[in-house]
Amino acid sequence: MKNRPDYGEKLLLITIDGPAGAGKTTVSKILAERLGYKYIDTGALYRGVAYEAQKAGVVSDDDIGLEKLCGTLDFEFVMDEKGLRLFSNGADITGEIRTPDISMLASAVSARPVVRECLFAIQKELGNEKGAVFEGRDMGTVVFPEAEVKFYLDASAKTRAERRHKEFAGKKGSPAAAEIERDIKLRDANDSNRSLAPLKPAEDAVIVDSTGLDIETVVNRMLSHVKKRVS
Ligand code: DC
Repeated sequence: MKNRPDYGEKLLLITIDGPAGAGKTTVSKILAERLGYKYIDTGALYRGVAYEAQKAGVVSDDDIGLEKLCGTLDFEFVMDEKGLRLFSNGADITGEIRTPDISMLASAVSARPVVRECLFAIQKELGNEKGAVFEGRDMGTVVFPEAEVKFYLDASAKTRAERRHKEFAGKKGSPAAAEIERDIKLRDANDSNRSLAPLKPAEDAVIVDSTGLDIETVVNRMLSHVKKRVS
């Protein structure tokens, strides 16, 4: 773990929830880096389930098939010079889980209680060691209600679609901005309206709206909240 001269020796659990494209990944990575913490992208786990389900021919409402699949999962995060990578049963699936198809499927499987239950246990285990930034949808509300610092990062749907469009730009088969905005709204509706662990801010979360803010400003705002908790 790196030096954290400004943030003392106390290690915290920090959660960052919010809708797709709000900037959670970028901000979480920087925050973890500045604090010398580990960074865990829990959306990648839901994407990993979606990827494995697709590969095994299990559809998103087949709870029995999903339950069986969950029993075979073996995920591992590896952080190296290429960034955070997800391995499933020893294979690097980091690139495969980032397609628009897998995004939609991940949102669908994430509404199934059997999937949430299995990933809950995996996430709890990853959180045993403090000094971590967990990014997701229900980190502060369900998985780590005990977290010392909780953020809810939001932005307008238009801003979020524009950011995703920039991320995809130049890649083969990249969708149009309007298509991305439609997908984002659909995913938000799925994620916010499901009965189990819906996307919403924890009561004690600090809400940050990143519309019109640059990354540095968002990170600095968050760091000032972290500082209050360690001093
Ligand atoms: O953050 P992401 O877009 O990679 O997440 C993919 C999907 O997984 C998202 O549509 C909602 C779901 N998800 C969830 O339900 N709970 C989490 N903690 C993280 C992601």
